[in-house]
Amino acid sequence: MLNKIFFLTGNKHKLEEVEPIACDFGFKVEMLPGYKLEIQSDSLVKIAEYAALNAYMKLEKPILVEDAGLFIEALNGFPGPYSSYVYRKLGVEGVLKLLEGVRNRHARFESITVIVYKPCIITATGTVHGMITEKPYGNMGFGFDPIFKPVDAEKTFAEMNIHEKNKYSHRARSMRRALQKLSECTKLNHG
Ligand code: IMP
Repeated sequence: MLNKIFFLTGNKHKLEEVEPIACDFGFKVEMLPGYKLEIQSDSLVKIAEYAALNAYMKLEKPILVEDAGLFIEALNGFPGPYSSYVYRKLGVEGVLKLLEGVRNRHARFESITVIVYKPCIITATGTVHGMITEKPYGNMGFGFDPIFKPVDAEKTFAEMNIHEKNKYSHRARSMRRALQKLSECTKLNHG
């Protein structure tokens, strides 16, 4: 039987990306929207850790939080921790406008995964470097997927299925690291 862990998100795309990875490590992820308290901070780690611990204190169930941001080099790392706000207000087209005529298209996605699984509290990070394309490509995925192409890939995230995106993505990397640390921690604590 798989161990259950509650993912504080309402984003079904994130759930679909995380499910197969969690399954590889013996966990079943259940979506639990509505419990994620988001503090304002320049640090994704602080935002994710606060949300996870806050939810754990209320629910006393295994909790998974994943927070990500897009850091664009030519914009000094903007939108970073403010990616969700910028996505809602400007969208993909707005970001492309900000980069009109800009030759440096380097960007990275960063992901922080926090798991609270008594007695373990795990934090892990994952990064993918890439480029912001000149126009959107593809219609899969979510958020900035249509304009982000990982360095070693020929296509944007929005042109990849979940299996392909998980080979490159910031989220897959932080999630695998977090679940690896969690299996070590639970082994230590249960013999
Ligand atoms: P969140 O706070 O982790 O949901 O991420 C903040 C914002 O970053 C989201 O609203 C998306 O616009 C963007 N984002 C995060 N991860 C991804 C991804 O894997 N692909 C595309 N956009 C993403």
